[in-house]
Parts: sequence; C-alpha cells; structure tokens
Amino acid sequence: MYTICVTNQKGGVGKTTSVANRAAAFAKRGFRVLAVDADPQGSLTLCYGIDPMDVAATIGDTMLTGAPLPILQTSLAGLDLCPSNRTLADIEPQLMSKVGRERFLVRALHQVRYSYNFVFLDTPPTLGLLTVNCLTAANALLVPVIPALLSAAGLRDLLTTVGEVRDGINEDLRLAGVFVTFSDTRTIAAREKEAELREDLGNLVFTTTISRRVAHEYGAQAGAPVVLQDPSSVAAQEYCALAQEVLQRVSAK
Ligand SMILES: Nc1ncnc2c1ncn2[C@@H]1O[C@H](COP(=O)(O)OP(=O)(O)OP(=O)(O)O)[C@@H](O)[C@H]1O
Ligand SMILES: [Mg+2]
Repeated sequence: MYTICVTNQKGGVGKTTSVANRAAAFAKRGFRVLAVDADPQGSLTLCYGIDPMDVAATIGDTMLTGAPLPILQTSLAGLDLCPSNRTLADIEPQLMSKVGRERFLVRALHQVRYSYNFVFLDTPPTLGLLTVNCLTAANALLVPVIPALLSAAGLRDLLTTVGEVRDGINEDLRLAGVFVTFSDTRTIAAREKEAELREDLGNLVFTTTISRRVAHEYGAQAGAPVVLQDPSSVAAQEYCALAQEVLQRVSAK
C-alpha cells in the first residue's frame, strides 16, 4: 500500500478535484484504490455523489475508537471511498490531548494495508492535526498550486511543516511534486507566473498542467469526477496524463 496525500493550506486550489480524478484514473488502470476524505467539508464525498449528511461514520471514528474503516464502494470497480462530513471536525480537539496524536490515521489505515495498492488522502485547507495526521500517514505528498495566487510565504510554511513532519515523525515522507491547477494560458501574466514557478521549483513541478475548465465544476455537481463522467474530454485527459506522471515518479522512488 502506497499512500499519497494532496495538500495545500490554501483553500480552493483544486485539492479535492485532483484527488477525485487521480484516484479514479489510478483505479481505471487496474489498481485497487481507496480515496479518503479527511476534510470535514466532505467535498470529496460529494464529488463521488454521496451526500455528506447521509454519512454515518468517518475516518475520525476509526481514528478515535479503532472501529472498522467506514468504506463505501463508488460507481467504479476498484475505487472505494472513506467518506466524511462535518462530524470529522470534532476529532481535532479530541486528539489534542492524546499521546501520539499525529499517528492515529497511520493506525486507522493499517487495517487496510493489504486491501489497496494506493490510498489518496484529501486534506482540509489548514495545517491542523487532521492534515498533520495525513502527512504522517503519507509516503508521498502532492501540492496543487495556482501560480497567480501562489505566495512564497504560503509555500514556505507548507515546506516547513513537511520538514518538521519528516524530521520528527515520518522520515519517509517525500515531496513527490507540485502541479499547476486552474491554468489559464490566455493571459501573458498567467503564462509568466507559471514560467516563474517552473524556474523556481525546477523538476519538482509536473510537466502536465491542469487547465481551468468548467467541466470540473459540472463534474463535482453531477456527483462524478470528470475522469469518470466524460473520459474523452480534455479536462479528463489532463488528469489522466498527470496520474501517469505521478505513477512514474512514485514508482521511480
Ligand atoms: N481545473 C479546474 N477548472 C475549473 N474549476 C475547477 C478546477 N479544479 C477545481 N475546480 C472547481 O473549483 C472549486 C474548488 O476546487 P476544489 O474543491 O477541488 O479545491 P480544494 O483545494 O479542495 O478546496 P478546499 O481548500 O476548500 O478543500 C470546486 O468548485 C471545483 O469544482
Ligand atoms: Mg477540498
């Protein structure tokens, strides 16, 4: 089992959309995949067409009590979902006072270590204990970035947290790469920003760029990521190409 966490403390940069599509793209390649919604907003759950209000248990219940992971099947064979809703927010204050509070997700995922080839973790847009648990449980980290909105300070904070997690609790954590989302090559300013990012971060940035496309919004509303809903669309093909690059990077280890 190889665990890939997608995070960025900035909100609305395409974390959830990327997890929903990438997890689907990996499952379509024949891997057994678990997508874990570790965000109390429940956006990943919604992306797969499940109403967070109908969710009876989240990963948080397993983290706190050791109960079996609440796993749901999706419409795609080989792709399962561990759903979430706002009750997951209660877990952070409860974990705070516990010894080993960063490692509860590691223990929860241990249950399914032989059931899946890949686990994808979708984090909330914060660097709180849920996200730290995700970073602790992950082998690799992917960071979506909108070049025009990227603040050097924001990226530095994230890299500092990654460094701290690596030094203190998960020395295996590897920054697999940064990918550009919401790309809009129609304006010179946007193209320049993206070129700057590639110059600053070099090979860390994946070659595939995810464009801004309304198909992603429609996909989220229709309860299936675009990779499942409209596989031949450009939006889906970009995510499949990115999935291929991610697969190459993590298998090159
Ligand atoms: N490439 C894209 N083009 C157009 N819209 C997109 C794209 N990617 C995501 N979106 C839309 O933008 C919104 C935010 O995306 P998403 O929920 O994936 O971001 P997020 O980083 O997970 O947000 P949060 O920080 O709140 O968890 C959603 O409505 C989604 O459908
Ligand atoms: Mg999200």
